[in-house]
Amino acid sequence: MILVTGGAGYIGSQFVRYYTRCRPTEKVVVLDNLVEGHLEALDGLSNVHFERADIGDFENVKNILSKHRIDAVVHFASYCYVGESQENPSKYYQNNVAGSISLFRAMEECQVGKLVFSSSCATYGVPVQELINEEHPQNPINVYGLTKLLIEKILTGYADTKDWSFTALRYFNAAGADKSGLVGESHDPETHIIPLALKTALGTKEVLQIFGDDYDTPDGSCIRDYIHVEDLAAAHLLALDKLPTQKGGQFINLGTAYGASVKEIVDVCEQVSGKKISHTFSPRRKGDPARLIADASKAASYLGWKPQHDLRSIVETAWNWETKKRY
Ligand SMILES: NC(=O)c1ccc[n+]([C@@H]2O[C@H](COP(=O)([O-])OP(=O)(O)OC[C@H]3O[C@@H](n4cnc5c(N)ncnc54)[C@H](O)[C@@H]3O)[C@@H](O)[C@H]2O)c1
Repeated sequence: MILVTGGAGYIGSQFVRYYTRCRPTEKVVVLDNLVEGHLEALDGLSNVHFERADIGDFENVKNILSKHRIDAVVHFASYCYVGESQENPSKYYQNNVAGSISLFRAMEECQVGKLVFSSSCATYGVPVQELINEEHPQNPINVYGLTKLLIEKILTGYADTKDWSFTALRYFNAAGADKSGLVGESHDPETHIIPLALKTALGTKEVLQIFGDDYDTPDGSCIRDYIHVEDLAAAHLLALDKLPTQKGGQFINLGTAYGASVKEIVDVCEQVSGKKISHTFSPRRKGDPARLIADASKAASYLGWKPQHDLRSIVETAWNWETKKRY
């Protein structure tokens, strides 16, 4: 059986939904302390056992691992706000790094040595080439990215010394929602451009603030690689299935290799919603590179993964969710 940490969050719950759809006879244990997640995100999933717990609670996690005879972990639990990580680094080191170490210790005690980890393109820092592949230097420019890099290194140590098999999936910008419209993105505060643009279209947010219109990009706004959460979920299952025959660690980018500018996002959100999105431009944010685009060829060659959703489909599913949001 698998354990999914952070499985009540945006991406984790999408993975749990996808997993139970693909493996209807298998059970999943979700471990989440609900600091950011939503129990409603697991509504309607009968094969899910929910444990309200903190990854840092060593004894409790150890009991959960042994009680459910867990043989692999998919580790999403983390704090994820870049800005907050700069203002309050200790909170991020404690939860993301110390929490993960405690989880890994519990796994070690219970002889669970297989893990898929949510890493991030934030581990790369400022790109030195147009398309970022997995060999790109890792020089994170914020505490959040550093916590993800530290966890990758710690996992490498477990692979070297304890024979663990793990895959660190470095996502670019997760976006979109489940096609059912039942689950989707709900962060507080919301910092991601697509939900913010759609909230502005809906009128629940007055004006969309765009940071920087003087970047060295065709329309002057930042370019990012948006990847649908369902495509992320599919990649996790492929990565999980590889673990029993995999030696050591793998590091894999998850993106589409298509870069969309913020202005393009606003255009597509206007087309899909049929509403005008009022927006203003503010100065660039410190540490926001002009472009972040994945070279996702390793995900194709190693996992046999190919994203199924384009930007239009990302925005359509996000709009469907935003208009009937339950939590
Ligand atoms: N959203 C993105 O664009 C993006 C990009 C790259 C990587 N990631 C990574 O993907 C993962 C999921 O991101 P998300 O957007 O779904 O975030 P989210 O905040 O929606 O989900 C994280 C979940 O982890 C839980 N959690 C946090 N700390 C915990 C702890 N100590 N113990 C137990 N549960 C805890 C939260 O309650 C929440 O349900 C994170 O690791 C994030 O860093 C996200």
